[in-house]
Amino acid sequence: MPTILAIETSCDETGVAILQKEGGDITVLSDVIASQIDIHKETGGVIPEVAAREHSQVIRPLIEKVMKEAKTTKEDIDAIAVTVGPGLMPALSVGVTAARTLSYAWDKKVIPVHHIEGHIYAALPKENIFPALALIVSGGHTLLIEVTGHLQYKVIGTTKDDAVGEVFDKVARMLSLPYPGGPQISKIAEHGDSAAFNFPRPMLKSGDLNFSYSGLKTSVLYQIRELGELTDKQKADIAASFQAAVIDSLLAKVTTALKQKPYSTLLLSGGVAANTELRKSLTKLADQENIQLSISPTELCGDNAIMIGQIGLYALEAGRTKKWPSVDAIARVSIEKFSREPSLDS
Ligand code: KG4
Ligand code: ZN
Repeated sequence: MPTILAIETSCDETGVAILQKEGGDITVLSDVIASQIDIHKETGGVIPEVAAREHSQVIRPLIEKVMKEAKTTKEDIDAIAVTVGPGLMPALSVGVTAARTLSYAWDKKVIPVHHIEGHIYAALPKENIFPALALIVSGGHTLLIEVTGHLQYKVIGTTKDDAVGEVFDKVARMLSLPYPGGPQISKIAEHGDSAAFNFPRPMLKSGDLNFSYSGLKTSVLYQIRELGELTDKQKADIAASFQAAVIDSLLAKVTTALKQKPYSTLLLSGGVAANTELRKSLTKLADQENIQLSISPTELCGDNAIMIGQIGLYALEAGRTKKWPSVDAIARVSIEKFSREPSLDS
């Protein structure tokens, strides 16, 4: 029964967890997330050095906490999974340094994990999985990924500019809503009319599977400028109309991808996957297309270490491990390239 310690520090959540795998069953023995949202609220966004400082202050006590809660000693741990990228370099470095240090001190291998793999595995169903079409929507990424088997990915669509979560955050700022904007937009959108403003549905006719959100963002900005001082009702209408435009654009690309190839499963994950309207709309689409849908549980949509542990256990099984001296943080790397070059040295 392999048991691993998993660490996630790519952005503004410090996540640590201990997981165990027996056959196809994964058990989370303990987990913890320390969110930095309150700190970053003050600056309206994440400052990488501030995030890193916070991660480094909490990481050691959090590791001690999960080990204690899981009643685990270092002898019980088989390997250490850690997000090596992509993400904010100073933030990633904290988790990677912790993993390297423990790996050296405990004489355990490291399982380097790509952050997006984590999001994919947060939504992975147990059966009839492959080939899967994964829609990953987060603060840093908007991706359509063909998952052909465990640890095998092909990126078939990506954003040409802003990521979906980033646009949610920017539009929220235009509406004077606090950081992070996604949950705020979806909350006020509940009271808004999604047909009040006809914002553009980006890239519908592009003929490919890529996304682009700068045009939509600009259109929302012009609308806000035109209206001047906004009432709460107008804010809610803008939020609902913007959200509808984003969802339409995402669903259009998913529909196109589903027509191109038979898939067994449709996966939805990433921070923006917590959006209720998106979850509802994709559920409807999956029903119409008659495809199994698996959405990550809301509590695993945002960044966490459980998802890093979930992929980590599969990677360990496949022997995708490294010795600590060759484990480094990588600020930018595509999931496809990462999975092709795990550079094993175990
Ligand atoms: O996956 P995540 O926690 O971090 C990254 O890897 O980027 O995603 C964070 C993003 C933020 O942009 C946040 O505004 C967005 O997810 N988000 C949402 C919702 N909850 C979080 N966007 C729309 N609706 C939500 N309910
Ligand atoms: Zn993420």
